[in-house]
Amino acid sequence: MKAIKKLWMLVLLMPAMAIANTGVHLDKAPSNLNDKASLQRGAQFFAANCLACHSASYMRYNRLMDIGMSEAEIKAILPEGSKMGSTMQAVMASADAKAAFGVAPPDLSVTARARGTDWVYTYLRSFYTDPTRPSGVNNLVFPGVGMPNIMAGYQGEQVLEVEKHGGAAGHEVQVLKLVSPGAMTPAQFDATVGDLVNFLDFMSEPAKMVRYKLGYIVLGFLFLLLILSYALKKEFWKDVH
Ligand code: HEC
Repeated sequence: MKAIKKLWMLVLLMPAMAIANTGVHLDKAPSNLNDKASLQRGAQFFAANCLACHSASYMRYNRLMDIGMSEAEIKAILPEGSKMGSTMQAVMASADAKAAFGVAPPDLSVTARARGTDWVYTYLRSFYTDPTRPSGVNNLVFPGVGMPNIMAGYQGEQVLEVEKHGGAAGHEVQVLKLVSPGAMTPAQFDATVGDLVNFLDFMSEPAKMVRYKLGYIVLGFLFLLLILSYALKKEFWKDVH
């Protein structure tokens, strides 16, 4: 049942995927689902910074044990009123958020799969100051975005500049310039967003890790079978020759 629901969500997100392809260069997300420390840092950052507005309704807190978090570590990030078995629900009511931002913050359960990790990684690092917007910010890969720039404290303030490449007949390239630093250096910020996107990727399909493991077991079994059947073949033909 759950799988069918997920499938439907993907189908519904298809048009969004097409829009996501805006032609802006996407940076490669440094995803590694085997890096448990990275996934844990991502989970902690997600709980502290994103759950205020976004839910992740397919994710239960106790599933964080799959990435090696202890019960005590999970309890430390549980919002008030949530239990170990609860799904991740936004603190802010969806209707209130819609009134505040003009759009309801979408559930992030399958966003990494629907948009792609590179898109999410680039999106979270591409907010810039834009006085023409009601929120005062815009986003290079999501023009007219409703999400406020909650990353500014970590990343600092970015502005959009247009650089001309190749002389008068050349093309214009949009670049983001950091004009005032945040609490993190650019390298630290990129690593933090990398961990976060890694976690979003894990969340969008926790079964991926199990599947990877299963794949190795199946391959190992087939290899064993190969050796056994070769030995058997030799045994059978021994007397024929
Ligand atoms: C203050 C509320 C708020 C917080 C906090 C917040 N967001 Fe958002 N977010 C929004 C809103 C509103 C939108 C919808 C934007 C739109 O459609 O224009 C959004 C959109 C997004 C999208 C685009 C989803 C899509 O497919 O369209 C992603 C990805 C995202 N947020 C990730 C995050 C992450 C990760 C965090 C934590 C680091 C976070 N957000 C924190 C309000 C918030």
